[in-house]
Amino acid sequence: MRVALLAAECEPWAKTGGLADVVDALARALGRLPEARTELHAPVDVLMPRYRSVRVPDTAVAEPALAIPDPQGGEPLEVTILDVPADGYRLRLVDVPSAFDRDALYDHPDDPWRFAVLCRAALAALERDGTPLDVLHVHDWHTAPALLDRARGVARGDAFLDGMAVMLTVHNLAYHGWTPNEQLPQLGLEPGERLAGTNPDGVDLLLTAIQRSELVNTVSPGFAAEALTPAFGMGLDPTLRTLGDRWFGILNGIDPGVWDPSSDPALAATYSSEARSGKAACRRDLLTRVGFDPHDDGVVLGMIGRLDPQKGFDLLADGARDLLAQGARMIVQGSGHAALADPFRALAAEEPRRVALIERFDRDMARRIYAGSDLFLMPSRFEPCGQGQMISLRYGTPPVVRRTGGLADSVVDADERPGAGTGFVFDDATPEAFVAAIGRAAAHRRDATAWSALLDRGMAVDFNWVTGSAPTYLEAYRRAVALRR
Ligand code: GLC
Repeated sequence: MRVALLAAECEPWAKTGGLADVVDALARALGRLPEARTELHAPVDVLMPRYRSVRVPDTAVAEPALAIPDPQGGEPLEVTILDVPADGYRLRLVDVPSAFDRDALYDHPDDPWRFAVLCRAALAALERDGTPLDVLHVHDWHTAPALLDRARGVARGDAFLDGMAVMLTVHNLAYHGWTPNEQLPQLGLEPGERLAGTNPDGVDLLLTAIQRSELVNTVSPGFAAEALTPAFGMGLDPTLRTLGDRWFGILNGIDPGVWDPSSDPALAATYSSEARSGKAACRRDLLTRVGFDPHDDGVVLGMIGRLDPQKGFDLLADGARDLLAQGARMIVQGSGHAALADPFRALAAEEPRRVALIERFDRDMARRIYAGSDLFLMPSRFEPCGQGQMISLRYGTPPVVRRTGGLADSVVDADERPGAGTGFVFDDATPEAFVAAIGRAAAHRRDATAWSALLDRGMAVDFNWVTGSAPTYLEAYRRAVALRR
């Protein structure tokens, strides 16, 4: 079985969110499955854009140039594919400077065109390889144009495209790739044509991909169920409901080699469940770095994420004064919508020794926050899976999470399940409920023995891709192939 992953992001080459980690970790895990020696062609391919920010290693090898029809019409586009041996998979960077040699990954006015180019170039490269592709695994709306091209290929009798099953993973149901009529030419579509679907105003690319893929999943069973309801479905719940058992959730994992406090080079000291004293050194190091008193034992709250309304930074901002009054300190790291950081910027200016804002995407600092905080916060409004709670568990920092999606699937509340809990879970998306949950956690922390047992249980949770979700994806690929036939 030959499988290729197509995505807009992959760690460490380009990342704005968890999508990048998942694409990288899943590709690597697939290559490590026992089936990779028998049934699955390995290493698997991962295709993504060569953005300006991608650091192309010297070892990259350019494939012979390819010409593809420009989705917008006009002269063919010249494409170079750069092959990079990644750790366990083959990365293939789609190099089309007019589309990707720009500053930001997203939010350009011609995004529909850019991602239509990505998909068309990726399919052309895969077809040129000369072996049938059994499964194209696409991720989020950026890769939906591949389904338009498959439909076009089927119409003209292209056996390669016809034979290929498509599995779509929805990491974020909030972004649809909505393309209004006036932009349809960017996708090579005209309003009213059959391939453009039935919406008179434009094309919802994510919806198109959901309708046309053999299988569609999201990244936790909990969110898969929530997404079928109007409250979480983002307008796509009626479409998802038509899929029946072709819509389901597979919980993401984390790579235990990438996220390991016993070998993490970003940390001031390493530690493990058996020898945890290094964690105290990490805490002192973190507090010193952000200008806090390293000897104050008051609870230190860490929060990391995209500055996006989804993540609930506002709940922390609104609860911050209560938390500070109770002696808590907080370290917030985020990048994205800068306005969401305004309240923290103001608080940090007022209380520089108790509130720190790191307004950038800093991999090493993130690791120090996971390790050095006392509690890790994820008050998301919705969360298809979430990765921070898994990392913080592994780093012995109990998470405080909202009961939603993948957070509810991966954190067990210490009061609801005494002796089995790994963190703290709250229901209402209000600052009061969030502050109350942090208060409960801080109370637990005063009982050193029970706290230590709670940390041990969290550190022992196994989120390993290779033993967990990668085999489930492989099983889904088999099903997708069967459905295509
Ligand atoms: C998106 C989702 C997040 C998920 C990630 C990786 O960023 O919002 O919940 O963990 O994708 O699948």
